[in-house]
Amino acid sequence: METPNFDHWETLAAFHGTGSDRFYDVDTLVSGKDSLSDLEENAIALATYGSGVAGLDVVHIQSHIGFDSISMARRGARVTAVDFSPTALARASEIAQLAGVALDTVQADSRDLPHSLDDRFDIAYATIGVLCWIDDLDNWMASTTRVLRDGGRLVLVEIHPFTNVFGSRDPLIADFPYRSGVPVQWSGTGSYANPNADFVTSTEEYAHSLSEIVNAVHHAGLSLTTLLEHDDMAYDPHGDILDLDDDGRYRFRIGVGPDGTRGSASTLPIAFTLLATKRPAII
Ligand SMILES: C[S@@+](CC[C@H](N)C(=O)[O-])C[C@H]1O[C@@H](n2cnc3c(N)ncnc32)[C@H](O)[C@@H]1O
Repeated sequence: METPNFDHWETLAAFHGTGSDRFYDVDTLVSGKDSLSDLEENAIALATYGSGVAGLDVVHIQSHIGFDSISMARRGARVTAVDFSPTALARASEIAQLAGVALDTVQADSRDLPHSLDDRFDIAYATIGVLCWIDDLDNWMASTTRVLRDGGRLVLVEIHPFTNVFGSRDPLIADFPYRSGVPVQWSGTGSYANPNADFVTSTEEYAHSLSEIVNAVHHAGLSLTTLLEHDDMAYDPHGDILDLDDDGRYRFRIGVGPDGTRGSASTLPIAFTLLATKRPAII
């Protein structure tokens, strides 16, 4: 299986959390700060009917350097962090040790998780910035479903494919496809967590529309239980596309609204939450 983005992620995993980026503050995580955003928190609450992840087996798919893995382990989950980047997993283990929590790690491609993980997890948690690296969404969904127990839940919180279309807002540039098709190649400096970082990498990214994601869920043997589209977030995952409103929430508006200002324009979807349950095989 080809892994076109491997070098990119190895580079970012070595850089993130070393004190030079806006998202990964190791010291505050280690000292007890939780890394889950309100959307992720709410998704877990909905998936577990409010009881949370304590006592559950959670696989964190594409865990990167393990911030959310550690936050869920702190809540009492038995967490297995999965990523194809050995550097990311080594960093996650190191930070978990500093934070004093247990964390298992498995280096694997999320499109083809090892069979040793089959039927082992209550929750498969995958959030913000995972699907755009996946060329074959059906493989990813089938692989993720396979490691869930019957009745286990997929908790997917992602950037909305609508907003992903836009690379810039002023000027408005729509430079990424809405649905799957031709992969998008990029080469340049920096990371989403620090655009000025002094390294050059290249990537290949893949668009997946909301209907493609929902259909992949169905094809994988999951039953969709919740699909929410969010117009506001606690941070801007792109770093520079969203408006920061007075209530501290980020929103996406284009053009102008009824009073001729952008502030009154309708807000557009920027993230979604998808929850689904693994159905027992009937044939
Ligand atoms: C944007 S990060 C996820 C960020 C995570 N939500 C966080 O809060 O840190 C994407 C992760 O996906 C991993 N990744 C990309 N493609 C992968 C694949 N095919 N299999 C496994 N991991 C992959 C990268 O190594 C990276 O750690």
